[in-house]
Amino acid sequence: MIYKGIIERYRKYLPVTEKTPIVSLFEGNTPLLRAHNIEKHMGVKFRIYLKFEGANPTGSFKDRGMTMAISKAVEEGSKAVICASTGNTAASAAAYSARAGIKCSVIIPDGSIALGKLSQAMMHGAKVIALKGNFDEALKIVLEITKNYPITLVNSLNPYRIEGQKTASFEIMDFLGCSPDYHFIPVGNAGNITAYWKGYKEYCAKKKLTHHTCVLPHMMGFQASGSAPIVRGKPIKNPKTLATAIKIGNPASWKKAEAARDESKGVIDIVTDAEIVKAYKLLAALEGVFVEPASAASLAGLIKYFKKGSLNCQPSTVNSQPVIVCTLTGHGLKDPDRAIKSATRPKVLGQDMKKIIKEIGL
Ligand code: F0G
Repeated sequence: MIYKGIIERYRKYLPVTEKTPIVSLFEGNTPLLRAHNIEKHMGVKFRIYLKFEGANPTGSFKDRGMTMAISKAVEEGSKAVICASTGNTAASAAAYSARAGIKCSVIIPDGSIALGKLSQAMMHGAKVIALKGNFDEALKIVLEITKNYPITLVNSLNPYRIEGQKTASFEIMDFLGCSPDYHFIPVGNAGNITAYWKGYKEYCAKKKLTHHTCVLPHMMGFQASGSAPIVRGKPIKNPKTLATAIKIGNPASWKKAEAARDESKGVIDIVTDAEIVKAYKLLAALEGVFVEPASAASLAGLIKYFKKGSLNCQPSTVNSQPVIVCTLTGHGLKDPDRAIKSATRPKVLGQDMKKIIKEIGL
């Protein structure tokens, strides 16, 4: 069967009917890659898989939620949508709105979003407002607007976003044949960890994977150390991190993320910017997987917990060799500035064959 996106694939698990006009860019069905080289590099006995969400049509996991949110908005007769965003939600909302032929407005923190994301929102014809303020302040304004005007909120407080995003867990379980033992994931506004946990719980229950005694994974969420309100236990007024996607001081789904952590006997913890950059470079250099910095928080968290000796690496009920999945939320091309700052610059040479050969190292 030709693949037609997450709604067609998982229709019976989603709140859609025959009447729902499906607005899709054939999102989802993203690679779940075994990270052999990173396993070797870390010297681990478990299997590590990378769920590469940068392979979605607009380059991030947001497309899963956006196909649902925009389809339902159109079904309900909405002519305009709005979101606050650190960039990826804006890019996705803009693209799906363009496809649906509805108006899209996005409010972004001025100077704090990566270039690739900004260019996407602009090219898809969204009304882009750069707010003098941070993401949390932008979200507050957007919530106020949607309360008072006929415009649909497409931030992850819109429950359809979570419904779409939970399909990433479905794909992982379909691929592995069961759930992983640990799931590592970056946490920003906390919608995605909420969605994955919902997905694991529902799929396990509905598919009745009882022949395996479906053991749900521990959800391991990671915030950047300068933007870690859930870990610190209070909102952060001026969040700081080079991982701009998760530069959030007061996550909308705070309580739900804590519930996912507690129900799954997982953790929400911090990783430093230095740890994020290290993981970001490892993914690109060892696995050929280019992600944006925020996405590398999941691998950074795995490395941190492995070093601490905090992971149970014994065979589990489900898997003879423990299985770990890291979600990589967005593509590296989203943030070319960070990539260029993090890697070796090209050498500029004249057309001198000898010098070129020498530089190549032949
Ligand atoms: N990784 C990336 C690349 C993101 O863009 C985001 C969130 C996250 C992780 C965190 O996910 O918010 O569900 O906990 N980006 C939002 C945005 C906030 O506006 O694009 P979360």
